[in-house]
Amino acid sequence: DVSTSPLTGENILRDEKIIRLKTLDESQVRGCVKCRLSETRKNTVFGEGDVDATIFFIGEGPGENEDLQGRPFVGRAGDMLNKWIAATGLRRDEVYIANMVKCRALGSRLPMPDEVAMCTPYLEEQIRIIQPQVIVTLGLAALKYMMNDAKLAMGRSRGQWRDWRGIKLMPTFHPAYILRN
Ligand code: URA
Ligand code: SF4
Repeated sequence: DVSTSPLTGENILRDEKIIRLKTLDESQVRGCVKCRLSETRKNTVFGEGDVDATIFFIGEGPGENEDLQGRPFVGRAGDMLNKWIAATGLRRDEVYIANMVKCRALGSRLPMPDEVAMCTPYLEEQIRIIQPQVIVTLGLAALKYMMNDAKLAMGRSRGQWRDWRGIKLMPTFHPAYILRN
């Protein structure tokens, strides 16, 4: 059960992190059929980046390009995210990027609550392994999930630090939202 990792609070070495993440991906996520999104996906999208990343970005879920390539944020929203990362002075491979759910929801819909509930133990395990200093939620859905608060609004939340189990969390807009507006 990925939600009962013994790693919490430990200082995990880089090589150990790489092995833990690879094992999580290959032995649990890739073959996962815990929710209906498994029926239509081409590839799972585990996430990618530096296992020692200071910043961990959380998106909603894979889109069409991500589903085809098996990598997060590789379409137009990804181009925008890449610009934001560059603006921090970091390279994309110096941060970590993952999504709330690992399989594409058709029609660009948001993942449903039961899909999120099934999938987010993987995300939480990724965060426990990587132990970032800062989490950046991309969009309202990821913020609501992480804060366990369905009433949050982006306008009032954006730019205000929050706490997620001792890790600083910064809410921002979703890059796709910025592209549309
Ligand atoms: N939008 C997301 O939320 N995640 C991706 O990986 C791509 C687009
Ligand atoms: Fe499993 Fe998550 Fe994919 Fe659902 S979205 S099948 S829980 S990996």
